Amino acid sequence: MANWIRIPQSQGTHSKQAHANLPANACYEREVGRHGFFGPATHLHHKHPPTSWCHWEGDLRPRAFDLNKLPSSATHSPFDAVVLLKNRHCQYRFWTCFKPMAELARNADGDDLIFVHAGSGELFCDFGHMRINAGDYIIIPRSTMWRLVPQQPLSLLMIEATNEAYQLPDRGLLGQHGMFDTAVLTSPQIDHAFLAQQDENRWQVRIKRHDRISTVTYPFNPLDAIGWHGDVCVVKLNWRDIRPVMSHRYHLPPSAHTTFVAPRFVVCTFVPRPAESEPGVLKVPFYHNNDDFDEVLFYHQGNFFSRDNIDAGMVTFHPAGFTHGPHPKAFAAAANNDKTFIDEVAVMLDTRDALQVLPEAFAIEDSAYVDSWQTATLEDEK
Ligand SMILES: [Fe+2]
Repeated sequence: MANWIRIPQSQGTHSKQAHANLPANACYEREVGRHGFFGPATHLHHKHPPTSWCHWEGDLRPRAFDLNKLPSSATHSPFDAVVLLKNRHCQYRFWTCFKPMAELARNADGDDLIFVHAGSGELFCDFGHMRINAGDYIIIPRSTMWRLVPQQPLSLLMIEATNEAYQLPDRGLLGQHGMFDTAVLTSPQIDHAFLAQQDENRWQVRIKRHDRISTVTYPFNPLDAIGWHGDVCVVKLNWRDIRPVMSHRYHLPPSAHTTFVAPRFVVCTFVPRPAESEPGVLKVPFYHNNDDFDEVLFYHQGNFFSRDNIDAGMVTFHPAGFTHGPHPKAFAAAANNDKTFIDEVAVMLDTRDALQVLPEAFAIEDSAYVDSWQTATLEDEK
């Protein structure tokens, strides 16, 4: 149990409730928070947007990557897919599976979480067969053997929990059926399609261990189970089955949208939801320093209400160490109550340990992203 050094104090003009009733002459609230919105926090009321920088030098900066421009995401194996970001506890890769996998994959380094950004197809694995479609999360337990047969090319965001396993978050006061009922989770079936693919042909299994590939050859298809029982299994969840937590009186932190957890990172899902409606309540993400976590957001579909010029298939990366928050147009729209419904689907990765940006990500970076908060741009458009 953490024993933070905490002496709640206040100075000057301030609201009593975070994210509501901000002082009129200092409406830019900044949350300085520890431990990813779970730890101690202070809210400062600024006269200027904390993101209104006019010049930036150095390696630390907000970054945006356009995965639609990734030249080499279509590979034969998930293990050859482009790794964009990584640290000791996770790998963040993007893969386009464009034709049936000729070999089985087995990741002995950790669990894989796959988010289907586009396409459809079939998954065959140790536990049977299941259809997959855009919007599905698929958790593949470590060392499961699997392969995909796309019907439409599959664009897949893959997050490896290196040396760890995915779990569900503590639902606390929400109860066991909040956010989603575990009854909506589905798993592969030993069905006709699965039994029909069992053959006596030569199959190879590519095994990833310590990021190196070993290949095992069988004189038959090793996906040959006729049944099983137990509680280790591939699991699927579609974002449409997530029922988001929200309050019309309080902008909840991203942690309220946590879908999966691993020991050193979390994966959150932002799904369509009503905007906060009470006057005086903040309606966009508050400006914040999430000083213990790096934040990665993948935009799947919809209108990304807190961002300008971000399209589906893009990724933003906000490492710890500076303040970030809504873009100027989004902030102004929220202040005018222009939006009553947030129509977005996005997958967020928050890592406790700093992520390394790999060269393939720099190659598709929008280098102007750091300047996208500048209000001069907004004024020019008026
Ligand atoms: Fe953030």
